[in-house]
Amino acid sequence: MLQFRIQLALCWLLGAVSLSTTRALSTPSSRTVAPGNSIIPGSSIAVKIDRAAAVSSRSLGDIKSVEQLIRNAQKDSRLSKREVEFTVHPLITTVSPKRITQLVERATVLNPDYVPTDFSTWYQVLFPEPESEDNQTLHDLLATLSGYQEVASCHPLGGGILPAVDPSNDPLFPSQGYMTPAGEGINALYAWGFPGGDGANTTIIDIERGWKLDHEDLVDANITLLAGLNVKDRYQSNYRHGTAVLGAMLMVDNNIGGVGIIPGAQGHVVGVTRVVGGGPFENYPEAILDAVDALGFGDAILLEIQVPDANGNMFPVEIIDAVFDAISLATSLGITVIEPAGNGQQDLDAPILCIGSATPASILNPSSPEFRDSGAIMVGAATSTIPRTRVLESNYGARIDVHAWGENILTASVAGSADDIDTYLPFDGTSGAAPIIAGAALSVQGMISANRGTKLDALALRDLIKIDGTPTSNPSVDKLGVQPDLRALIDGGHLL
Ligand SMILES: *[C@@H]1O[C@H](CO)[C@@H](O)[C@H](O)[C@H]1NC(C)=O
Ligand SMILES: *[C@@H]1O[C@H](CO)[C@@H](O)[C@H](O)[C@H]1NC(C)=O
Ligand SMILES: *[C@@H]1O[C@H](CO)[C@@H](O)[C@H](O)[C@H]1NC(C)=O
Repeated sequence: MLQFRIQLALCWLLGAVSLSTTRALSTPSSRTVAPGNSIIPGSSIAVKIDRAAAVSSRSLGDIKSVEQLIRNAQKDSRLSKREVEFTVHPLITTVSPKRITQLVERATVLNPDYVPTDFSTWYQVLFPEPESEDNQTLHDLLATLSGYQEVASCHPLGGGILPAVDPSNDPLFPSQGYMTPAGEGINALYAWGFPGGDGANTTIIDIERGWKLDHEDLVDANITLLAGLNVKDRYQSNYRHGTAVLGAMLMVDNNIGGVGIIPGAQGHVVGVTRVVGGGPFENYPEAILDAVDALGFGDAILLEIQVPDANGNMFPVEIIDAVFDAISLATSLGITVIEPAGNGQQDLDAPILCIGSATPASILNPSSPEFRDSGAIMVGAATSTIPRTRVLESNYGARIDVHAWGENILTASVAGSADDIDTYLPFDGTSGAAPIIAGAALSVQGMISANRGTKLDALALRDLIKIDGTPTSNPSVDKLGVQPDLRALIDGGHLL
């Protein structure tokens, strides 16, 4: 079962991401999307209207007023070309306002601490030009917008990076060591011996750009695209990232390839790329709401995206306010959200300067008054060999709940210029650690469900998977939390 057919050793290089030219936006054109291609979506921003401030300035806070705000900001901002066209839409277009209200009301009942979001105050502003060409222009526009009293929050909506890939050479690892007993791995092998330990009766949705769903070792898992488009990653021009993520969790228990941590779970995918307003745009909060709409209490979402702060360093995607609101709704509904901490080498306890914010804030430092908890399980990445320490690229800090391997994660992949060769390759980074944690969490949820006939809510599951986990060799320096140890949880009687 654990034997791999290794076809190709490839070293992955994350395509250089240059988002820093100062070219102004040009006239929009309607662009069509061919699913399956690598596309560069248009740039988009999210704007949250402060309704009270809007009323006091005699604005209706509706689409027309947001259009006016953007036009004002274009005039007021130094670099923006004035005549750039744009369209304004509600932030969430795929889930109806009535359904969102139902979900928010239910979350309020399930989680008394939930602070409800009025999603109707969030808008998306779409500029059809590719994101990579207008970083400076967009930043300038956001800086101006954020100074208006009617604007409660604003930030870029797309352009994040899939938090994978360590560009160093990865020697192929002869087996999936992340499955092995604690010390090294999470001991999935042991959990498979218990009812539900393979993730039976649990469901997970992976949210990112694209996947090869007919990979030879995934095709029988019947993983379906529920919403959004399935497109190649814009920076890597292939399906490797999503295929690797799905593989670590869901490779089928058959006689080919490898096996996922939770081959008994049902997987689905939701694409972050959407067609709205005449072109492809990325919208992470809408993708999360699509997943929430499809899931129930005890299910899970894996959010495989990271985003830059104003200095271009990579952070977990929840630093974006609209994503924070969407994750908070999900976790309050009992849906576990697993989120990579990001590959920015950043201390998450330090103040973070978000794009579109005037001042840095310690939103991810649990001992700061500015801290906010989305309820997500935040995942860091450590080395695969003992002594285990933080891998260079992983972010770190007290907010990080747990970690897993961030290198040598042998999993499903694709090769060939047409992405048509099914293969198995090592995967890296906090992107690689997060599906291992998603696997551990749903293995635990499956066993709880089998033993108790009920499932745990998001916060209870987050607390439980940390118990008796394996620390890194230098916890106070690594700041990654523990790696879950499924055997310790089972043998300690914590799942009964
Ligand atoms: C595959 O999934 C689809 C949609 O979830 C479902 O309709 C179909 O019955 C499934 N097929 C198998 C073989 O499980
Ligand atoms: C965007 O522009 C800012 C300001 O020039 C720069 O600091 C930042 O690194 C750029 N971001 C990316 C992701 O390139
Ligand atoms: C999964 O759910 C089915 C139907 O409710 C039940 O019969 C089965 O025992 C469950 N399996 C586990 C491992 O909990």
